[in-house]
Parts: sequence; structure tokens; C-alpha cells
Amino acid sequence: MAMTDISSLESKILATVAGTRDEQALEAVRVSALGKKGAVSELLKSLGAMSPEERKANGPLYNGLRDRVSEAIALRKGTLAREALDAKLAFERVDVTLPSRPEPRGTIHPISQVLDEITAIFADLGFAVAEGPDIETDEYNFTKLNIPPDHPARQMHDTFYMAPQADGSRPVLRTHTSPVQVRTMLAQKLPIRIIAPGRTYRVDSDATHSPMFHQYEGLVIDEVTHLGHLKWTLEEFCKAFFEVNEVELRARPSYFPFTEPSVEWDMRCDRSGGGIKFGTGNDWLELAGSGMVHPCVLEMCGIDSEKYQGYAFGGGLDRLAMLKYAIPDIRPFFESDLRWLRHYGFAALDIPTLDGGLSR
Ligand code: DAH
Repeated sequence: MAMTDISSLESKILATVAGTRDEQALEAVRVSALGKKGAVSELLKSLGAMSPEERKANGPLYNGLRDRVSEAIALRKGTLAREALDAKLAFERVDVTLPSRPEPRGTIHPISQVLDEITAIFADLGFAVAEGPDIETDEYNFTKLNIPPDHPARQMHDTFYMAPQADGSRPVLRTHTSPVQVRTMLAQKLPIRIIAPGRTYRVDSDATHSPMFHQYEGLVIDEVTHLGHLKWTLEEFCKAFFEVNEVELRARPSYFPFTEPSVEWDMRCDRSGGGIKFGTGNDWLELAGSGMVHPCVLEMCGIDSEKYQGYAFGGGLDRLAMLKYAIPDIRPFFESDLRWLRHYGFAALDIPTLDGGLSR
């Protein structure tokens, strides 16, 4: 083949290579040039039938052509592969800033929300979270809280008793979270500063009482503690929980077997407008029972009551949720009605924190 024919064949092949849009098209070009019956391969084959002189003259031309065509195809192959990857990456890219899908969507139950809020507030005040079992011994639920078997306070509790054990004792469904005080004092080193939210049980059921409900319990034991500390702690809690700058607490003398003296606290609020406003007004809402831990309780829990005192407080958690989020009836809390849960539930990713906002 004449030189000019060779170079026009070369430019034709190279132009086709450069014009390919994908690896499949490129492969077809490769086969048509370098495959068994390809144009370049046929040229190389023709060398065999030539005289030695002709072969000497044409051999380097044909081989050079083959090398340049192979190189061009390899280069184009690399380019096409990169372009294909770029296109795939662009197509499959995930925008992580897009909002999550709105449906289907679960919500956080108001009880869980309030439990998280209470925990966040007291954690900020330096309280640890303590827990105890729902099925409690009579000893911890009553006796070690200074409520001996014949004590009239036992009648106030409407207790669910379990079947008697082999030793004659009867476990109870805990009637309050106060036995967590006992468990903590028996198990932990002093000083103590804990909050214990959890499930509690009493034989009681109407619009504001459920046989299973929730309480929160606080306990502080140290060498110097007094009612002033207790009041300040409750005030700080109320400001954070009800999300107001000022609160006013009212103390009422009360009686609990495990505290002496015992105080019940109310918080000033305003119910005049149909709803409820916290911190101002002429109405009061019941907040918590409390008091200085009774020396007998300290001694029964192995604490030297000459050296240590403490304060405790506790109240209804469901009640706090109902007040804060204007939920009129306690029963739907535990009915698992999806419409109710969607209405009163909280967004799953809005975890309550003091700096990020408790309830948004
Ligand atoms: N356990 C009490 C109840 O269920 C509430 C209570 C009162 C808790 C006084 C306390 C306290 O820690 O000091 O009614």
C-alpha cells in the first residue's frame, strides 16, 4: 500500500476513535482495525506474501501504524472510562441536606418527652439519673421509708400486691418512685444527688388518675443541706421546665412518713383565660411533695444521721406533661391511639437540651 494511502487510513481510524462516545463503540472500532479481519491486521498479514525488499520497506510502516492506532485506542479508553465514572457519580450523588421524608413518621410520646426534659434540667444541676424496678419489695416501698406494716399511710397508697413469696413476703408494684431513694442510699457513696423518673402503680382510675402512671423523685444527701437548697432547686427546675424567667413557689406544711419536716409546693399560675399561664396570675398548681429526709430513713439506709442530712422531693410526671402541653385527660396517654400520638407527640430528632431548647 502506498504511503499516502497508509496515512489516510491512519487519519480515518484515529478520527473514528476520537469520535467514539462510549466504550462499546470504541471496541467496535478496535475490532474493525486491529481484530482478526481488521484493516490494519490485513495489512500486516500481506507482509508475508512480499519479497524481502518490499517487506523491509513496508514492515516498519505497517507496524508503526498498528502501534499508533493501539495507543490512540488505549488513550481513548481511559478517557471514556473516566467520563463514565464522573457521570455515574453525578447521577448517584445524595444530597444529605435534603429534608427527611415526611411520612411515615413516628413521634415521641409526651411522657418520654417530659422525662427527657426533666432529666436534661436536673443533669444540668449536677444530678445523676437513678433507677429501680417496677416490682418492688414491701421493705423498700414502705418499711425502709419509715412506713412500718401497721402504719396508716399504707392505706393511702391503694397498693397492687403480688402473690406471696415462699418466705411469706409480698412484692408490690411500686406505689411511688421513693423506693429508689432507699436503693440509692444503700448502694452509693455519699454525697448523693439523684433524680429518678419512672413508672408507678396504684389501684385508681378516672380522668386524672391511671392505675399505671409516672413520678419523678429527687434526693440530695450531704453534710450541709437545708430547705433553702430544696426551694432553690425546685425554682430552677420550674423556670427551666415551664420555660419562664420568673416563678413563685408557695410552701404548705404537709406530712410524709419519710420526711421531717414535710412541705408541699405549689407554683403560681394564671387559669383566667381558659388556658394556663405559668409564673403570673392568682392561681396555684400543685408541683411536688418534699421534705428533709427523716433521720430514721437515713439510719435504716446505713447513713449517719448526726453527720448527714438531705432533702427529697417527688411528684406526678404525667401531671407535669398535662399542664405544660395542655392535655386534659390522662387516659389517652396509655391508649396508643395513633391520631392522639400524632397530635400530642414530638418530632423524633428534637432531643430536649437546655441550650438547644427543651420543647420546640
Ligand atoms: N412519694 C410521695 C407520693 O407518692 C411523693 C413524695 C413526697 C416524694 C415527699 C418525696 C418526698 O421524695 O420527699 O405521694
